[in-house]
Amino acid sequence: MRAEPPMVKGAVPIFGHMLKMRKDQPGFLRQAYDAHGAPFGINMMGRPCAVLVGPDQAKVFFTQTDKALRMDKAYKFLEAMFGKMGFLQEPEAYQNERPVQLAPFRREKMLSYIEIMQEEVELWLERLGKEGKMDLVDEMRQLTQVIAAHCLMGREFRQKMGRNFWDLFMAMSNALDPFFPPHWPLPKFIRRDIAKKKMVKILEPLIEERRANPDNYDDFLQELLMTKMKDGRQLTTDLAINWVIGFMFAGHETTFSHSSWLLIQLLQNPWYLEKVREEIQKVIPTGTKMGIEHITNLHHIQWAIDESERMRPVAPNLFRYAQEPLEIGDYTIPEGWWVLLDTLNAHHMDHIFHGAQKYDPLRFNEERDEGKGRFKLTGFGGGIHTCTGKNFAHYEMKVIAGLLCRDFELELLTPDPHPVQGKGASGPSQTFIRYRRKTA
Ligand code: HEM
Repeated sequence: MRAEPPMVKGAVPIFGHMLKMRKDQPGFLRQAYDAHGAPFGINMMGRPCAVLVGPDQAKVFFTQTDKALRMDKAYKFLEAMFGKMGFLQEPEAYQNERPVQLAPFRREKMLSYIEIMQEEVELWLERLGKEGKMDLVDEMRQLTQVIAAHCLMGREFRQKMGRNFWDLFMAMSNALDPFFPPHWPLPKFIRRDIAKKKMVKILEPLIEERRANPDNYDDFLQELLMTKMKDGRQLTTDLAINWVIGFMFAGHETTFSHSSWLLIQLLQNPWYLEKVREEIQKVIPTGTKMGIEHITNLHHIQWAIDESERMRPVAPNLFRYAQEPLEIGDYTIPEGWWVLLDTLNAHHMDHIFHGAQKYDPLRFNEERDEGKGRFKLTGFGGGIHTCTGKNFAHYEMKVIAGLLCRDFELELLTPDPHPVQGKGASGPSQTFIRYRRKTA
C-alpha cells in the first residue's frame, strides 16, 4: 500500500491551514514544498487537499481530469452564479456541449474580433486625450468589458445595454463564495439572485430575437446559439444564458488582470519596452488596420505576455476533486481529497525556468524556447480544459499593448504593485500611470 501525501503540520480546528493560505498563500505553499517536496497534503476547512507542483505532476493533473479528477465538483460553488454549463457539468454533458464551446473561437470569427478590438482600443485612446494620469487596472477593467460586450454580444448590445449588464454581472460575481452554502439568506446572495433574475430578463428577449431572425446576426452569441451539440440539439435559452455569463466570468477579470500585469512589467523594464516599441513601429505603424498577420508578428509582445503569465499568473492555483484514488510519485491521493495544482510556485522554480525570479521575456524566443515542453507554463491551464479563450485574450492584449505603446509615452507612478486576489483572478493592486500622447 502506498502512503498518503505527508500532511503539513500546524492545521487549526475548523479552518485547517486556510488562515495561513489567506495570509500568504504562495509563501505558505512554497515553505511546505521546501519542507516536504510534492505532493504534500494541507487541510482546507477540514477537507484534505493534495498539492501538486511542477510539470510532471501537472501532467497527471491535466491528463487525469474528467477521469480520476473532476473539475465540476471542484468548482461547484460557481453553479450559484452560472447554473449548469460546460465544465460545471458531469464529463458526458461537458463533452456533449464541447462543439458549442469551441465554435465562437473558430478562425473566421477570431479574425472578426481583431477588428472590433482595434475599434474599441482606438476609441479608448481617443478618450484619454493628450495627457493625464490613469488608474491602470480600472481602465483595463472597463476596456476589456466593452471589448467583451462588443465581441461576444454585438454592437447594439454594447451600446445600449453594456453598463447595466456589467453592474448586474458584478453583483453576481461579488457573491461568489466557496465556503458558505449558496442558498443561505446572506445579503450578498440575495443581491446575486435579484441580479441574476434581471440579467435573465435582459438576455431572454435578445436570444429569442436572434433565434427568430438568425440571418441578421453574425457574432459570437449567434455562433453559440446556432451551433449544434454532439447530440444534434442546440442550446436551450436557459443554457445559453448560463454560457454567456460563464464566458464573461472566465474571460473578464482574468483578461484585465493579465493586461495590467503585462503593461506594468513592460514599464518596469524599459530595456524590454524599447524592443517592443521598435517592433511596433515596424509591424503596426500609425494607420495600420490590424489583421492576423500583425498579431502574429508582434513577437516581443507575445513573449512579454508569456512572461507575465509565468511570473504573475492570474490563476495561480487550479483545483480538482479526486473521484478515485490517484497514484502520484510514491504516494496515493485518496478518493474525496481536493487536489490543487500550484502554478505560481512552479513558475518561480529555477529547475523549471532559468533565473526564475528575473523578468526575461526573451526566454520564450525561438532560440531559447524555455516554454517548450507540455505543462511547464500552466497559466492558461492544460489538457482538455485548457482555456478556450486563450487566443482571444492574447489577441486582445496585443492590440491593447501595441496601440497604447505606439501612441503614448508612459510612466509608472505606483512604485511596486503587488498581487491581490479578486473574485475570479489574482491581479495587481491599484496602479497609476502617467501618459502623454506622442507628437508625430
Ligand atoms: C488572460 C486571460 C485568461 C486567463 C489567464 C485564463 C485562464 C484560464 C485557466 C487557467 C483555465 C483552466 C481552469 C482549470 O483548468 O481549472 C481557463 C479555462 C477556461 N477559460 Fe480562460 N482565461 C483567460 C481568458 C479567457 C477568455 C477571454 C475566455 C472566453 C471569452 C475564457 C474562457 C474559458 C473557458 C470557457 C474555460 C473552461 C475550459 C474548459 O473547461 O473546457 N478564458 N482559463
